[in-house]
Amino acid sequence: MKLILVGFGVVGQGFAEILQSKASWLSRERGFVPTIVGVVTATKGSLFLPDGLDSSALLAAAETGSFDAYPRHADLRRDMSVSDIIGAGIADALVEVSPTNLDTAQPALANCLQALDAGLHLALANKGPVALDLLRLRAKANAKGLQLRYEATVMAGTPIMQMAEEALAGCQIQAARGILNGTTNYILTQMENGMSYADALAQAQALGYAETDPAGDVEGWDAAGKVLILAGALFGRRLNMSDLDVSGITGLASDDIADAKAAGERYKLIAEATPDGGSVAATRLPLSNPLASVSGATNAITLDTDLMGAVTLIGAGAGKRETGSAILADLLAINRAAR
Ligand code: HSE
Repeated sequence: MKLILVGFGVVGQGFAEILQSKASWLSRERGFVPTIVGVVTATKGSLFLPDGLDSSALLAAAETGSFDAYPRHADLRRDMSVSDIIGAGIADALVEVSPTNLDTAQPALANCLQALDAGLHLALANKGPVALDLLRLRAKANAKGLQLRYEATVMAGTPIMQMAEEALAGCQIQAARGILNGTTNYILTQMENGMSYADALAQAQALGYAETDPAGDVEGWDAAGKVLILAGALFGRRLNMSDLDVSGITGLASDDIADAKAAGERYKLIAEATPDGGSVAATRLPLSNPLASVSGATNAITLDTDLMGAVTLIGAGAGKRETGSAILADLLAINRAAR
């Protein structure tokens, strides 16, 4: 499977590291032999090599901050845009791992639409296009017989999308509620342990949990984007940010967290999606509530269903390997469907 990567930050590098370390296992056990033919980034440059780029050399060049350090090769091009590489007509799938833009979803949305028009399958970790235009992307993918997968956009590699769309395919889902932002859950956990807000946020950034602009995490917009994605994925509804009530954790002081702790309670940033709307808000939960014990960058979601009642999934919500794992799972699903 020939891949174009758009973006090569935490998630793209995590994915490349997984390919590097699991290449022979993936080939032997999964019959999956991926080749990265193009990588385009906003800050490191662009590379295109029809025979395939070397993951180790890509990672080494990324360490320097620029693909200028990628070794010379007679067929290597360093000047191509995403559009040019799609137009070259050799790739099978586009992997969108560039930074999320929840205002316009661009430039990723245009790239995704062009990729589908050109017959490429899509795997996204970038939340923007899925949050703002999932239904259009899905209609186009369906019309073309292409796979549109976005497991990484909610709860990293914890398989909420596969669970809802495949394992629970016979259930009607009435609501989804949980902890959907790893950064804020990590900050709240560390603050309860006595760390300052600023130090906890700096740690979350160093661990690769936070968005490129962490305001999106702490003000609730990242979780709100995930509510929009769930509304589209679970309910087939196109909601806008203005349909949601959104607040984050920036209004919480250390004293609030200590007061809650003294009362046997804990603040969590709770996101909810229903067919009619959604919300994101810091909420004080009794310790007896199972969501209260979900700590660090871990996420949790409860789906209310007609046949199964409440089904809860808990797992990693952010991180380099954890999000790379979701991209890999999506590509394996594309590979299975193409057989
Ligand atoms: N910044 C996001 C989070 C990354 O902290 O949850 C995963 O979507």
